[in-house]
Amino acid sequence: MTMAPDHLNLVGGKWIGDGARLDNISPSNTNDLVGRYAQGSLADVDAAVASARNAMKDWSTNSPQVRADLLDAVGSRLLAERSEIGRLLSREEGKTLAEGVGETVRAGQIFKFFAQEALRVEGDSIPSVRPGVDVEIRREPVGIVGLVTPWNFPIAIPAWKIAPALACGNCVILKPADLTPGCAHILARLLDEAGCPAGVFNLVMGPGSTIGQHLVEHPDVDAISFTGSVPVGRAIASAAIGGMKRIQLEMGGKNPMLVLDDADLDVAVRVCLDGAFFSTGQRCTASSRLIVHRKIHDAFVDRLSGAMTALRVGDALDPATQIGPVASERQLENNLRYVEMARSEGAEVIGGERIDASAPGYFQRPALFLGATNQMQVSREEIFGPCAAVIQCDDLDEGLAIANDTPFGLSSGICTTSLSSARTFKRLSSAGMVMVNLPTAGVDYHVPFGGRKASSFGPREQGRHAREFYTATKTTYIG
Ligand code: UN1
Repeated sequence: MTMAPDHLNLVGGKWIGDGARLDNISPSNTNDLVGRYAQGSLADVDAAVASARNAMKDWSTNSPQVRADLLDAVGSRLLAERSEIGRLLSREEGKTLAEGVGETVRAGQIFKFFAQEALRVEGDSIPSVRPGVDVEIRREPVGIVGLVTPWNFPIAIPAWKIAPALACGNCVILKPADLTPGCAHILARLLDEAGCPAGVFNLVMGPGSTIGQHLVEHPDVDAISFTGSVPVGRAIASAAIGGMKRIQLEMGGKNPMLVLDDADLDVAVRVCLDGAFFSTGQRCTASSRLIVHRKIHDAFVDRLSGAMTALRVGDALDPATQIGPVASERQLENNLRYVEMARSEGAEVIGGERIDASAPGYFQRPALFLGATNQMQVSREEIFGPCAAVIQCDDLDEGLAIANDTPFGLSSGICTTSLSSARTFKRLSSAGMVMVNLPTAGVDYHVPFGGRKASSFGPREQGRHAREFYTATKTTYIG
Protein backbone atom coordinates (compact mmCIF):
# COMPACT_ATOMS: atom_id res chain seq x y z
CA MET A 1 0.00 0.00 0.00
CA THR A 2 1.16 3.51 -0.79
CA MET A 3 1.15 6.06 2.02
CA ALA A 4 -1.49 8.74 1.79
CA PRO A 5 -2.27 11.65 4.10
CA ASP A 6 -5.28 11.68 6.42
CA HIS A 7 -8.30 13.77 5.48
CA LEU A 8 -10.34 15.40 8.22
CA ASN A 9 -13.88 16.63 8.72
CA LEU A 10 -14.72 20.32 8.52
CA VAL A 11 -16.83 21.41 11.49
CA GLY A 12 -17.40 25.02 12.52
CA GLY A 13 -14.54 26.19 10.30
CA LYS A 14 -12.01 23.75 11.83
CA TRP A 15 -10.53 20.56 10.39
CA ILE A 16 -11.09 17.91 13.03
CA GLY A 17 -10.73 14.15 13.40
CA ASP A 18 -9.35 12.38 16.46
CA GLY A 19 -11.25 9.18 15.92
CA ALA A 20 -11.38 6.33 13.45
CA ARG A 21 -10.22 6.46 9.84
CA LEU A 22 -11.71 4.81 6.77
CA ASP A 23 -9.45 3.60 3.98
CA ASN A 24 -10.60 4.86 0.60
CA ILE A 25 -9.61 2.06 -1.80
CA SER A 26 -9.67 2.28 -5.58
CA PRO A 27 -12.08 -0.18 -7.24
CA SER A 28 -9.65 -0.39 -10.20
CA ASN A 29 -6.87 -1.66 -7.96
CA THR A 30 -7.56 -2.72 -4.41
CA ASN A 31 -3.85 -2.20 -3.60
CA ASP A 32 -4.25 1.50 -4.36
CA LEU A 33 -5.08 3.43 -1.19
CA VAL A 34 -6.57 6.74 -2.32
CA GLY A 35 -6.49 8.16 1.18
CA ARG A 36 -7.52 7.76 4.81
CA TYR A 37 -10.63 9.67 5.80
CA ALA A 38 -11.74 10.69 9.28
CA GLN A 39 -14.95 9.12 10.51
CA GLY A 40 -17.07 11.66 12.35
CA SER A 41 -18.88 11.08 15.63
CA LEU A 42 -22.40 11.95 16.67
CA ALA A 43 -20.86 14.79 18.70
CA ASP A 44 -19.30 16.11 15.47
CA VAL A 45 -22.77 16.24 13.90
CA ASP A 46 -24.08 18.12 16.95
CA ALA A 47 -21.16 20.55 16.77
CA ALA A 48 -21.67 21.05 13.01
CA VAL A 49 -25.37 21.77 13.49
CA ALA A 50 -24.66 24.19 16.37
CA SER A 51 -22.04 26.05 14.33
CA ALA A 52 -24.39 26.20 11.35
CA ARG A 53 -27.09 27.67 13.58
CA ASN A 54 -24.60 30.28 14.81
CA ALA A 55 -23.53 31.18 11.30
CA MET A 56 -27.06 31.34 9.94
CA LYS A 57 -28.00 34.92 10.82
CA ASP A 58 -24.98 36.63 9.24
CA TRP A 59 -24.88 34.33 6.26
CA SER A 60 -28.55 34.66 5.39
CA THR A 61 -28.74 38.42 5.88
CA ASN A 62 -25.41 39.32 4.26
CA SER A 63 -25.29 40.67 0.72
CA PRO A 64 -26.00 37.96 -1.87
CA GLN A 65 -22.82 39.18 -3.56
CA VAL A 66 -20.86 37.43 -0.79
CA ARG A 67 -22.58 34.16 -1.62
CA ALA A 68 -22.14 34.71 -5.37
CA ASP A 69 -18.41 35.41 -4.96
CA LEU A 70 -17.85 32.31 -2.83
CA LEU A 71 -19.65 29.98 -5.26
CA ASP A 72 -17.96 31.56 -8.26
CA ALA A 73 -14.52 31.11 -6.69
CA VAL A 74 -15.18 27.42 -5.99
CA GLY A 75 -16.49 26.99 -9.55
CA SER A 76 -13.31 28.53 -10.96
CA ARG A 77 -11.10 26.23 -8.91
CA LEU A 78 -13.05 23.16 -10.04
CA LEU A 79 -12.69 24.17 -13.68
CA ALA A 80 -9.00 25.07 -13.35
CA GLU A 81 -8.16 21.86 -11.47
CA ARG A 82 -10.41 19.57 -13.51
CA SER A 83 -7.63 17.16 -14.51
CA GLU A 84 -6.33 16.55 -11.02
CA ILE A 85 -9.75 16.42 -9.35
CA GLY A 86 -11.23 14.34 -12.18
CA ARG A 87 -8.38 11.89 -11.75
CA LEU A 88 -9.07 11.52 -8.04
CA LEU A 89 -12.75 11.02 -8.85
CA SER A 90 -11.97 8.23 -11.31
CA ARG A 91 -9.52 6.67 -8.90
CA GLU A 92 -11.97 6.50 -6.01
CA GLU A 93 -15.22 5.83 -7.88
CA GLY A 94 -14.06 3.92 -10.94
CA LYS A 95 -15.59 5.87 -13.81
CA THR A 96 -13.24 6.54 -16.72
CA LEU A 97 -10.89 9.52 -16.71
CA ALA A 98 -12.98 11.25 -19.39
CA GLU A 99 -16.09 10.73 -17.26
CA GLY A 100 -14.29 11.87 -14.09
CA VAL A 101 -12.97 15.04 -15.69
CA GLY A 102 -16.35 15.65 -17.36
CA GLU A 103 -18.13 15.35 -14.03
CA THR A 104 -15.70 17.78 -12.41
CA VAL A 105 -16.37 20.32 -15.16
CA ARG A 106 -20.07 19.85 -14.59
CA ALA A 107 -19.59 20.52 -10.85
CA GLY A 108 -17.66 23.70 -11.73
CA GLN A 109 -20.43 24.84 -14.05
CA ILE A 110 -23.03 24.15 -11.37
CA PHE A 111 -21.18 26.36 -8.87
CA LYS A 112 -20.88 29.11 -11.49
CA PHE A 113 -24.58 28.84 -12.36
CA PHE A 114 -25.71 29.07 -8.73
CA ALA A 115 -23.27 31.93 -8.08
CA GLN A 116 -25.47 33.95 -10.41
CA GLU A 117 -28.68 32.49 -9.02
CA ALA A 118 -27.70 33.88 -5.60
CA LEU A 119 -28.46 37.32 -7.06
CA ARG A 120 -31.84 36.25 -8.42
CA VAL A 121 -33.76 35.02 -5.39
CA GLU A 122 -36.60 37.36 -6.24
CA GLY A 123 -40.01 37.60 -4.65
CA ASP A 124 -43.40 38.95 -5.74
CA SER A 125 -45.36 42.00 -4.92
CA ILE A 126 -49.12 42.02 -5.45
CA PRO A 127 -51.93 44.39 -4.45
CA SER A 128 -53.93 43.27 -1.45
CA VAL A 129 -57.67 42.83 -1.77
CA ARG A 130 -57.83 45.43 1.03
CA PRO A 131 -57.28 49.05 -0.01
CA GLY A 132 -54.14 50.62 1.46
CA VAL A 133 -52.45 47.28 2.10
CA ASP A 134 -49.46 45.92 0.19
CA VAL A 135 -48.59 42.27 -0.04
CA GLU A 136 -45.08 40.97 -0.62
CA ILE A 137 -44.05 37.37 -1.06
CA ARG A 138 -40.42 36.89 -0.14
CA ARG A 139 -38.20 33.84 -0.45
CA GLU A 140 -36.11 33.15 2.63
CA PRO A 141 -33.63 30.37 3.34
CA VAL A 142 -35.06 27.19 4.85
CA GLY A 143 -32.31 27.11 7.47
CA ILE A 144 -29.92 24.27 8.20
CA VAL A 145 -29.84 21.72 5.45
CA GLY A 146 -28.46 18.18 5.76
CA LEU A 147 -27.21 16.69 2.49
CA VAL A 148 -26.78 12.93 2.14
CA THR A 149 -25.10 12.05 -1.15
CA PRO A 150 -24.30 8.86 -3.09
CA TRP A 151 -21.05 7.49 -4.50
CA ASN A 152 -21.93 7.37 -8.20
CA PHE A 153 -21.62 11.12 -8.92
CA PRO A 154 -19.30 11.97 -6.04
CA ILE A 155 -18.66 15.57 -7.08
CA ALA A 156 -21.64 16.60 -9.25
CA ILE A 157 -24.39 15.54 -6.84
CA PRO A 158 -22.85 17.21 -3.76
CA ALA A 159 -22.29 20.27 -6.01
CA TRP A 160 -25.91 20.43 -7.17
CA LYS A 161 -27.10 20.30 -3.57
CA ILE A 162 -24.45 22.50 -1.88
CA ALA A 163 -24.45 25.30 -4.47
CA PRO A 164 -28.20 26.07 -4.47
CA ALA A 165 -28.38 25.60 -0.69
CA LEU A 166 -25.67 28.23 -0.13
CA ALA A 167 -26.92 30.48 -2.94
CA CYS A 168 -30.28 30.73 -1.18
CA GLY A 169 -28.62 31.59 2.15
CA ASN A 170 -28.82 28.25 3.95
CA CYS A 171 -26.10 26.60 6.03
CA VAL A 172 -25.06 23.07 5.13
CA ILE A 173 -23.90 19.80 6.66
CA LEU A 174 -22.73 17.30 4.03
CA LYS A 175 -22.62 13.56 4.75
CA PRO A 176 -21.08 11.95 1.65
CA ALA A 177 -21.11 8.26 0.73
CA ASP A 178 -18.55 6.05 2.50
CA LEU A 179 -17.14 4.83 -0.83
CA THR A 180 -16.26 8.28 -2.19
CA PRO A 181 -15.26 10.71 0.57
CA GLY A 182 -12.41 12.10 -1.56
CA CYS A 183 -14.47 14.36 -3.83
CA ALA A 184 -16.59 15.62 -0.92
CA HIS A 185 -13.41 16.45 0.94
CA ILE A 186 -12.12 18.41 -2.04
CA LEU A 187 -15.33 20.44 -2.18
CA ALA A 188 -15.00 21.17 1.56
CA ARG A 189 -11.38 22.25 1.08
CA LEU A 190 -12.20 24.50 -1.88
CA LEU A 191 -15.07 26.13 0.02
CA ASP A 192 -12.83 26.66 3.05
CA GLU A 193 -9.97 28.06 0.95
CA ALA A 194 -12.38 30.40 -0.84
CA GLY A 195 -13.24 31.96 2.52
CA CYS A 196 -16.51 30.26 3.41
CA PRO A 197 -17.39 31.57 6.90
CA ALA A 198 -17.08 29.10 9.80
CA GLY A 199 -20.18 26.94 10.20
CA VAL A 200 -21.75 27.85 6.85
CA PHE A 201 -20.52 24.62 5.28
CA ASN A 202 -19.64 21.54 7.32
CA LEU A 203 -18.39 18.12 6.24
CA VAL A 204 -19.02 15.10 8.46
CA MET A 205 -17.91 11.80 6.92
CA GLY A 206 -19.02 8.47 8.33
CA PRO A 207 -21.59 5.70 7.99
CA GLY A 208 -25.16 6.46 6.97
CA SER A 209 -26.46 4.22 9.75
CA THR A 210 -24.97 6.47 12.45
CA ILE A 211 -23.90 9.87 11.06
CA GLY A 212 -26.60 10.02 8.37
CA GLN A 213 -29.29 8.84 10.78
CA HIS A 214 -28.29 11.36 13.45
CA LEU A 215 -28.34 14.19 10.92
CA VAL A 216 -31.76 13.18 9.62
CA GLU A 217 -33.18 12.94 13.16
CA HIS A 218 -31.46 16.05 14.50
CA PRO A 219 -34.10 18.42 15.91
CA ASP A 220 -32.21 21.50 14.74
CA VAL A 221 -31.86 20.45 11.09
CA ASP A 222 -34.60 22.02 8.96
CA ALA A 223 -34.35 20.12 5.68
CA ILE A 224 -32.80 16.99 4.21
CA SER A 225 -31.87 16.41 0.58
CA PHE A 226 -30.93 12.83 -0.25
CA THR A 227 -29.90 10.94 -3.37
CA GLY A 228 -29.60 7.16 -3.16
CA SER A 229 -31.65 3.98 -2.99
CA VAL A 230 -35.41 3.65 -2.49
CA PRO A 231 -35.22 1.77 0.86
CA VAL A 232 -32.84 4.35 2.37
CA GLY A 233 -34.97 7.15 0.91
CA ARG A 234 -38.06 5.70 2.54
CA ALA A 235 -36.33 5.39 5.92
CA ILE A 236 -35.05 8.96 5.66
CA ALA A 237 -38.50 10.21 4.72
CA SER A 238 -40.18 8.65 7.73
CA ALA A 239 -37.47 9.81 10.13
CA ALA A 240 -37.45 13.34 8.69
CA ILE A 241 -41.22 13.70 8.61
CA GLY A 242 -41.33 12.80 12.32
CA GLY A 243 -39.34 15.98 12.87
CA MET A 244 -41.46 17.93 10.33
CA LYS A 245 -38.42 18.53 8.16
CA ARG A 246 -38.62 19.48 4.54
CA ILE A 247 -37.42 16.57 2.40
CA GLN A 248 -36.19 16.04 -1.13
CA LEU A 249 -35.42 12.50 -2.28
CA GLU A 250 -33.86 11.34 -5.55
CA MET A 251 -33.89 7.57 -5.77
CA GLY A 252 -33.83 4.82 -8.32
CA GLY A 253 -34.88 4.30 -11.87
CA LYS A 254 -35.70 1.48 -14.28
CA ASN A 255 -35.54 3.73 -17.26
CA PRO A 256 -36.99 2.56 -20.56
CA MET A 257 -35.55 3.28 -24.00
CA LEU A 258 -38.07 2.53 -26.73
CA VAL A 259 -36.53 1.76 -30.12
CA LEU A 260 -39.11 1.94 -32.90
CA ASP A 261 -38.83 0.29 -36.31
CA ASP A 262 -38.29 3.68 -38.00
CA ALA A 263 -35.31 4.52 -35.74
CA ASP A 264 -31.95 5.41 -37.26
CA LEU A 265 -30.09 2.30 -36.10
CA ASP A 266 -26.73 4.10 -35.80
CA VAL A 267 -28.35 6.58 -33.45
CA ALA A 268 -30.25 3.89 -31.53
CA VAL A 269 -27.14 1.75 -30.96
CA ARG A 270 -25.11 4.76 -29.84
CA VAL A 271 -27.88 5.96 -27.52
CA CYS A 272 -28.44 2.53 -25.94
CA LEU A 273 -24.74 1.78 -25.55
CA ASP A 274 -24.19 5.05 -23.71
CA GLY A 275 -27.44 4.98 -21.72
CA ALA A 276 -27.10 1.38 -20.55
CA PHE A 277 -23.37 0.92 -20.02
CA PHE A 278 -21.38 4.16 -19.70
CA SER A 279 -20.34 5.02 -16.16
CA THR A 280 -20.56 1.23 -15.71
CA GLY A 281 -24.36 1.54 -15.69
CA GLN A 282 -24.13 3.17 -12.27
CA ARG A 283 -26.52 6.03 -12.98
CA CYS A 284 -30.05 6.31 -11.66
CA THR A 285 -30.83 7.57 -15.15
CA ALA A 286 -29.29 4.54 -16.93
CA SER A 287 -31.37 2.83 -19.64
CA SER A 288 -31.97 -0.55 -18.05
CA ARG A 289 -34.96 -1.61 -20.18
CA LEU A 290 -34.48 -1.51 -23.95
CA ILE A 291 -37.91 -1.94 -25.49
CA VAL A 292 -37.40 -2.82 -29.14
CA HIS A 293 -39.83 -3.07 -32.05
CA ARG A 294 -40.10 -6.69 -33.17
CA LYS A 295 -39.38 -5.80 -36.84
CA ILE A 296 -35.90 -4.46 -36.17
CA HIS A 297 -35.16 -6.43 -33.01
CA ASP A 298 -32.68 -8.91 -34.48
CA ALA A 299 -30.73 -6.34 -36.50
CA PHE A 300 -30.62 -3.99 -33.52
CA VAL A 301 -29.53 -6.64 -31.01
CA ASP A 302 -26.89 -7.87 -33.42
CA ARG A 303 -25.32 -4.43 -33.68
CA LEU A 304 -25.75 -3.46 -30.04
CA SER A 305 -24.30 -6.71 -28.71
CA GLY A 306 -21.36 -6.36 -31.13
CA ALA A 307 -20.67 -2.83 -29.92
CA MET A 308 -21.15 -3.87 -26.28
CA THR A 309 -18.76 -6.80 -26.52
CA ALA A 310 -16.13 -4.52 -28.10
CA LEU A 311 -16.21 -2.09 -25.14
CA ARG A 312 -12.87 -2.09 -23.32
CA VAL A 313 -13.40 -2.80 -19.62
CA GLY A 314 -10.48 -1.96 -17.35
CA ASP A 315 -8.63 0.35 -14.98
CA ALA A 316 -10.45 3.68 -14.79
CA LEU A 317 -7.15 5.57 -15.08
CA ASP A 318 -6.08 3.85 -18.31
CA PRO A 319 -6.98 6.27 -21.12
CA ALA A 320 -7.97 3.34 -23.36
CA THR A 321 -10.66 2.15 -20.91
CA GLN A 322 -14.28 2.69 -21.94
CA ILE A 323 -15.98 0.96 -19.01
CA GLY A 324 -14.40 1.29 -15.58
CA PRO A 325 -14.83 -1.13 -12.70
CA VAL A 326 -17.96 -1.57 -10.62
CA ALA A 327 -17.62 0.69 -7.57
CA SER A 328 -17.41 -2.00 -4.88
CA GLU A 329 -17.28 -5.72 -4.21
CA ARG A 330 -20.78 -5.54 -2.76
CA GLN A 331 -22.18 -3.83 -5.85
CA LEU A 332 -20.43 -6.34 -8.11
CA GLU A 333 -21.91 -9.27 -6.14
CA ASN A 334 -25.31 -7.66 -6.46
CA ASN A 335 -24.88 -7.31 -10.25
CA LEU A 336 -23.73 -10.93 -10.60
CA ARG A 337 -26.76 -12.08 -8.61
CA TYR A 338 -29.01 -10.28 -11.12
CA VAL A 339 -27.15 -11.86 -14.06
CA GLU A 340 -27.91 -15.28 -12.55
CA MET A 341 -31.49 -14.22 -11.89
CA ALA A 342 -31.91 -13.19 -15.55
CA ARG A 343 -30.88 -16.72 -16.56
CA SER A 344 -33.16 -18.39 -14.08
CA GLU A 345 -36.06 -16.19 -15.16
CA GLY A 346 -35.56 -17.44 -18.71
CA ALA A 347 -33.61 -14.65 -20.44
CA GLU A 348 -30.64 -15.32 -22.69
CA VAL A 349 -27.62 -13.54 -21.20
CA ILE A 350 -24.81 -12.03 -23.28
CA GLY A 351 -21.79 -10.92 -21.23
CA GLY A 352 -22.16 -10.07 -17.53
CA GLU A 353 -19.29 -12.15 -16.17
CA ARG A 354 -16.64 -10.98 -13.70
CA ILE A 355 -13.28 -10.53 -15.38
CA ASP A 356 -9.67 -9.87 -14.40
CA ALA A 357 -7.76 -6.78 -15.42
CA SER A 358 -4.22 -5.55 -14.86
CA ALA A 359 -4.69 -5.26 -11.08
CA PRO A 360 -7.13 -6.73 -8.53
CA GLY A 361 -10.42 -4.85 -8.87
CA TYR A 362 -14.15 -5.20 -9.48
CA PHE A 363 -14.41 -5.68 -13.23
CA GLN A 364 -17.50 -6.93 -15.01
CA ARG A 365 -18.41 -7.23 -18.65
CA PRO A 366 -21.56 -5.33 -19.63
CA ALA A 367 -24.61 -7.56 -20.05
CA LEU A 368 -27.72 -7.80 -22.19
CA PHE A 369 -30.68 -9.92 -21.07
CA LEU A 370 -32.36 -10.99 -24.32
CA GLY A 371 -35.92 -12.27 -24.55
CA ALA A 372 -36.81 -10.56 -21.28
CA THR A 373 -40.37 -9.71 -20.34
CA ASN A 374 -41.39 -6.65 -18.38
CA GLN A 375 -42.70 -8.91 -15.60
CA MET A 376 -39.30 -10.43 -14.80
CA GLN A 377 -37.66 -9.24 -11.59
CA VAL A 378 -34.63 -8.15 -13.65
CA SER A 379 -36.96 -5.79 -15.53
CA ARG A 380 -38.62 -4.36 -12.44
CA GLU A 381 -35.83 -3.84 -9.89
CA GLU A 382 -33.01 -1.35 -10.23
CA ILE A 383 -29.72 -3.27 -10.61
CA PHE A 384 -27.37 -0.26 -10.76
CA GLY A 385 -24.82 -2.04 -12.89
CA PRO A 386 -23.92 -2.45 -16.59
CA CYS A 387 -26.95 -4.64 -17.33
CA ALA A 388 -29.93 -4.02 -19.60
CA ALA A 389 -33.01 -6.13 -20.32
CA VAL A 390 -34.20 -6.27 -23.94
CA ILE A 391 -37.99 -6.52 -24.27
CA GLN A 392 -39.80 -6.80 -27.61
CA CYS A 393 -42.90 -4.84 -28.57
CA ASP A 394 -45.21 -4.64 -31.58
CA ASP A 395 -45.80 -0.91 -31.90
CA LEU A 396 -45.64 2.49 -30.25
CA ASP A 397 -48.72 1.88 -28.10
CA GLU A 398 -47.47 -1.38 -26.67
CA GLY A 399 -43.94 0.01 -26.24
CA LEU A 400 -45.28 3.02 -24.37
CA ALA A 401 -47.43 0.83 -22.13
CA ILE A 402 -44.41 -1.32 -21.25
CA ALA A 403 -42.27 1.78 -20.70
CA ASN A 404 -44.80 3.16 -18.21
CA ASP A 405 -45.40 -0.15 -16.46
CA THR A 406 -42.77 0.24 -13.73
CA PRO A 407 -42.66 1.37 -10.12
CA PHE A 408 -40.20 4.08 -11.18
CA GLY A 409 -40.50 7.22 -13.32
CA LEU A 410 -37.20 9.05 -13.53
CA SER A 411 -36.10 9.21 -17.15
CA SER A 412 -37.36 7.65 -20.38
CA GLY A 413 -36.39 7.75 -24.02
CA ILE A 414 -37.45 6.96 -27.55
CA CYS A 415 -35.42 6.41 -30.70
CA THR A 416 -37.53 7.23 -33.74
CA THR A 417 -37.47 9.37 -36.88
CA SER A 418 -41.22 9.99 -36.63
CA LEU A 419 -42.13 13.38 -35.23
CA SER A 420 -45.58 12.11 -34.42
CA SER A 421 -44.32 9.09 -32.42
CA ALA A 422 -41.81 11.28 -30.58
CA ARG A 423 -44.58 13.72 -29.73
CA THR A 424 -46.92 11.02 -28.43
CA PHE A 425 -44.13 9.51 -26.32
CA LYS A 426 -43.08 12.88 -24.90
CA ARG A 427 -46.65 13.58 -23.84
CA LEU A 428 -47.64 10.19 -22.46
CA SER A 429 -44.43 8.93 -20.84
CA SER A 430 -44.86 8.85 -17.05
CA ALA A 431 -41.32 10.02 -16.31
CA GLY A 432 -39.85 13.27 -15.01
CA MET A 433 -37.43 13.53 -17.95
CA VAL A 434 -37.99 12.38 -21.53
CA MET A 435 -35.29 12.06 -24.19
CA VAL A 436 -35.78 11.80 -27.94
CA ASN A 437 -32.87 10.20 -29.82
CA LEU A 438 -30.67 10.83 -26.77
CA PRO A 439 -29.59 8.56 -23.90
CA THR A 440 -31.80 8.55 -20.78
CA ALA A 441 -28.70 9.51 -18.77
CA GLY A 442 -26.57 12.61 -19.07
CA VAL A 443 -28.53 15.71 -18.20
CA ASP A 444 -27.94 19.47 -18.37
CA TYR A 445 -27.17 21.30 -15.15
CA HIS A 446 -29.40 24.34 -15.60
CA VAL A 447 -32.81 22.68 -15.93
CA PRO A 448 -34.93 20.71 -13.45
CA PHE A 449 -33.89 17.15 -12.62
CA GLY A 450 -36.19 14.59 -11.05
CA GLY A 451 -38.77 11.92 -11.57
CA ARG A 452 -42.17 10.54 -10.66
CA LYS A 453 -43.51 7.58 -8.66
CA ALA A 454 -40.85 5.78 -6.59
CA SER A 455 -38.01 7.71 -8.26
CA SER A 456 -38.37 11.07 -6.56
CA PHE A 457 -40.13 12.83 -3.74
CA GLY A 458 -40.33 16.55 -3.13
CA PRO A 459 -39.37 19.53 -5.27
CA ARG A 460 -37.03 19.18 -8.27
CA GLU A 461 -33.27 19.64 -8.09
CA GLN A 462 -31.09 21.84 -10.32
CA GLY A 463 -31.73 24.92 -12.42
CA ARG A 464 -34.05 27.66 -11.16
CA HIS A 465 -36.37 25.01 -9.75
CA ALA A 466 -33.81 24.14 -7.06
CA ARG A 467 -34.94 27.13 -5.03
CA GLU A 468 -38.37 25.57 -4.46
CA PHE A 469 -36.62 23.28 -2.01
CA TYR A 470 -33.97 25.63 -0.63
CA THR A 471 -36.25 28.58 0.13
CA ALA A 472 -39.42 29.08 2.14
CA THR A 473 -41.90 31.76 1.12
CA LYS A 474 -42.98 34.40 3.56
CA THR A 475 -46.07 36.47 2.82
CA THR A 476 -45.89 39.92 4.36
CA TYR A 477 -48.71 42.48 4.63
CA ILE A 478 -47.97 46.15 5.02
CA GLY A 479 -50.75 48.47 6.07
C1 UN1 B 1 -27.11 12.10 -15.25
O1 UN1 B 1 -27.64 11.13 -15.78
O2 UN1 B 1 -26.48 12.93 -15.91
O3 UN1 B 1 -27.68 9.32 -9.12
C2 UN1 B 1 -27.21 12.38 -13.81
C3 UN1 B 1 -27.86 9.51 -10.33
C4 UN1 B 1 -28.62 10.74 -10.73
C5 UN1 B 1 -27.81 11.65 -11.56
C6 UN1 B 1 -27.82 11.29 -12.99
N1 UN1 B 1 -29.10 11.43 -9.56
O4 UN1 B 1 -27.42 8.74 -11.15
